Amino acid sequence: MTSQKTAVVILAAGQGTRMKSSLPKVLHPIGNRAMVLHVLDIVGNVAPDLTVVVLGDGMDPVRDVVAPAQVAVQSPPLGTAHAVLAARDALEGFDGDVIVAFADTPLITQETLQHLLDRRRADDDPAVVVLGFRPDDPAQYGRLVVGKKGRLKAIVEYNDASPEERTINLCNSGLMAIDGKHCLKLLDAIGNENAKQEYYLTDIVEIARAQGLTCAVIEASPEEVMGVNTRNDLAVAEGIFQARRRRAVMAAGATMIDPDTVYLSADTQIGRDVTVGPNVVFGSGVTVEDGVTIEAFCHLEGAHIASGAKIGPYARLRPGADIREDAKIGNFVEVKKSVVGKGSKASHLTYIGDAQVGEEVNIGAGTITVNYDGFNKHVTQIGDGAFIGSNTSLVAPIKIGDGGFVAAGSTVTADVEEDAMVVERSQRRDIAKGAARFRAKNARKAGKD
Ligand code: UD1
Ligand code: CA
Repeated sequence: MTSQKTAVVILAAGQGTRMKSSLPKVLHPIGNRAMVLHVLDIVGNVAPDLTVVVLGDGMDPVRDVVAPAQVAVQSPPLGTAHAVLAARDALEGFDGDVIVAFADTPLITQETLQHLLDRRRADDDPAVVVLGFRPDDPAQYGRLVVGKKGRLKAIVEYNDASPEERTINLCNSGLMAIDGKHCLKLLDAIGNENAKQEYYLTDIVEIARAQGLTCAVIEASPEEVMGVNTRNDLAVAEGIFQARRRRAVMAAGATMIDPDTVYLSADTQIGRDVTVGPNVVFGSGVTVEDGVTIEAFCHLEGAHIASGAKIGPYARLRPGADIREDAKIGNFVEVKKSVVGKGSKASHLTYIGDAQVGEEVNIGAGTITVNYDGFNKHVTQIGDGAFIGSNTSLVAPIKIGDGGFVAAGSTVTADVEEDAMVVERSQRRDIAKGAARFRAKNARKAGKD
């Protein structure tokens, strides 16, 4: 009987004043991804026919982040019901189910959204289904008033609740599914006679009941529906997100030696039989193929690590680091915008930037690709099988041919031919017994004092 079409309206127009930030609240990141994008991703999984993100005035940065999603502007923000009505044009004539989600409730799961829809479509056909939860501390959340038959009778905002209503521990997550046939009519009936003089979406329940419609409630875990209103909430949400992601990474076949100390980003991809040591940070854009070992205290961002590679301890991979199969990047090695070819090794104390390093190359301790002259960045190319001795500066642009050998301590400013050996050091001077004479002279001086 009910249509199976789904629309999602994501509310993101609120000022988020409690964050005390010049950044719109919904752009604050969790796992290095804006909160609003978490919500967009998750709702995408229930295959909506229509998705609208409601933004406030002057939220152009948010518009850019959510593109190409459809955007409606609520100006000024006069409450959550008023916000849904900002999407009126999109909802006019839509008779499927309308899910309202909050951009500041980013930990919601696909399963729960599906559960909400399934309940909306159940045989008793409730006009509104609200997602409730029972937090340890109900704080300022709206309270759900449920009748004897388990039907939802009202949602009371904290500021408007009586002391008795405040003792209810079943709270409003803000998420709901509304029968599209009634949606706009119900929203239009909502007024603003309340403590905050806002148009509360929560009033939809009493209004639906007054029109002879029924409302239902389902419950989710408090973790999933916690709202982010303050910086502290943001940190709590991050913690929940990290714990989830770590479990997912381990479930997919990676070992984490001390998972609680590893930071993951929303887009981190980690393969099977990868071992991650303690205190590793995965910034955004990191992909790790199967069989990689990442030892303790590495910092990785925008990097791709191919199978069998060994990273760390204490390595730093910056954006554009492309570490190929079985390569080794050791302690205090920094790699930026460079390919390190298959089987190549930079085991200690090295900077590799804007470089193309071939296969089976050995890069000694203290090697530096001198890539920057204060104006431009220059490329270093190192051919297959080359050997770069320790404490070497390769002043780019420069090319070391296949099999080339740069002796330790060299500062190389011109290309090195294939299989050639280059030694760039100043002439050595040996002074026979010079040290002994130096010591004797100083000892005599000391005796006179
Ligand atoms: C809301 C609910 C409350 C619930 C809580 C759960 C209402 C009236 N109250 O309160 O019952 O327990 O969420 O977290 O719905 N927004 C707009 N335009 C506006 C106002 C808000 O788009 O004019 C958006 C915000 O950006 C945010 C969401 O709606 O994403 C919730 O707004 P917020 O002000 O945080 O509501 P709460 O006070 O938390
Ligand atoms: Ca909120």
